[in-house]
Amino acid sequence: MRILIGVSQLLIRSSLASVSPKFNCKTFPHNSNRFRSFATMATSDAEFVKGNVFPNGVAVLTLDRPKALNAMNLEMDLKYKSLLEQWEVDPKVKCVLVEGSSPRGFSAGGDVKLISSLKQLSEIIKVFTAEYSLICKIFEYKKPYISFMDGITMGFGIGLSGHGRYRVVTERTILAMPENGIGLFPDVGFAYIAAQGPGEGSVGAYLGMTGNRVSTPADALYVGLGTHFVPSGNLGSLKDTLLSTTFSENSHIEVQEILARYSSDPESESRLKLLLPHIVSAFGGNKSVKETMEKLEKNQRSDDTAVAEWAKDAVSGLKKGAPFSLSLTQMHFSRVASATGTNKELSTLNGVMKTEYRIALRSTLRSDFAEGVRAVLVDKDQNPKWNPSSLDEVNSSEVEAVFRPLEPEADELAV
Ligand SMILES: *[C@@H]1O[C@H](CO)[C@@H](O)[C@H](O)[C@H]1NC(C)=O
Ligand SMILES: *[C@@H]1O[C@H](CO)[C@@H](O)[C@H](O)[C@H]1NC(C)=O
Repeated sequence: MRILIGVSQLLIRSSLASVSPKFNCKTFPHNSNRFRSFATMATSDAEFVKGNVFPNGVAVLTLDRPKALNAMNLEMDLKYKSLLEQWEVDPKVKCVLVEGSSPRGFSAGGDVKLISSLKQLSEIIKVFTAEYSLICKIFEYKKPYISFMDGITMGFGIGLSGHGRYRVVTERTILAMPENGIGLFPDVGFAYIAAQGPGEGSVGAYLGMTGNRVSTPADALYVGLGTHFVPSGNLGSLKDTLLSTTFSENSHIEVQEILARYSSDPESESRLKLLLPHIVSAFGGNKSVKETMEKLEKNQRSDDTAVAEWAKDAVSGLKKGAPFSLSLTQMHFSRVASATGTNKELSTLNGVMKTEYRIALRSTLRSDFAEGVRAVLVDKDQNPKWNPSSLDEVNSSEVEAVFRPLEPEADELAV
């Protein structure tokens, strides 16, 4: 019985191996422990999330499931949320620091292979309710919430860090939303982060649609996923400083002062910033996926090699996505990007999460998800047979239908 462990690394291994020769399988050692029995795992999963309140009031939450690159499952989500809730009302706690125990990364995301094995809608509901309500808790957290996004931070890993107030990236940070490649869609409120970002959401739309990664601190800051760049080697002393500081009534003051002291400007310029006009022209302004593809194909022939290279990678990212997933992602991201105060639902994170909950429950039950997991994580033939198999065959009223209210079939997400 091969369950849980190793799932997310496999997803990443396949999504990164193809875009970067630096990322070969050596980066992700095989885990030797994947045959652990289900019973053992069920009792110990909550222990993958560790909480520790230090004497000066810094609460440290450590993800400690290194063999699965801190992939999150239901037990871990529940423990994480309950720690945050406890600390939020505990007067001794001044701020929260979240980190991963493994040098490889903060978190590879949710345990998608486990989700794909769930047969009951009620079980799927539990997982997404836990993930999405945790994201909303982090977003509205009253005390300073600092994440160390060192190494791999993908999918739900972005959900756990990208909505917090203080987001520390390093030269080792690798961010990506590769879900279209397994027949799901880029969720965890990434569309909301995208909408606040450059190009009226088009840079985030590009990342969500293609699954392409952000791998420099300059780009991580530019897209709005990071707030501070701190070299990886200095995280230890940053943490020591936090743990030895005497906090005032308003601990944001000390946290901001310390982060300002440790952070610096990245050495390189943001590549995505230089490419902005091209990103906007391909991914901005409600373009259909086909129009985006046409723009990119034109850009691949650009004399500017930086533009041509970028367009080539973007096309190859799009080609990995399920056509139905791409169509719904395009619709979702452009709606969130153009949401304003009058369209209240999608201009708030809670509203976006409610919408994503509807999409997630329905996408999880579509055959593309099972097929994506089979092709990318199980058989690893990288040759999914999507249904529908081309953008032309995607029925727009079926795409529209995944956004509809859930009731009376199921309750809406209560956040
Ligand atoms: C995209 O479409 C929405 C309506 O769905 C509209 O409000 C918005 O202005 C459009 N955005 C652009 C850039 O055309
Ligand atoms: C699109 O889907 C709707 C709802 O399932 C269906 O009624 C309609 O016939 C479909 N259209 C096409 C062109 O297949």
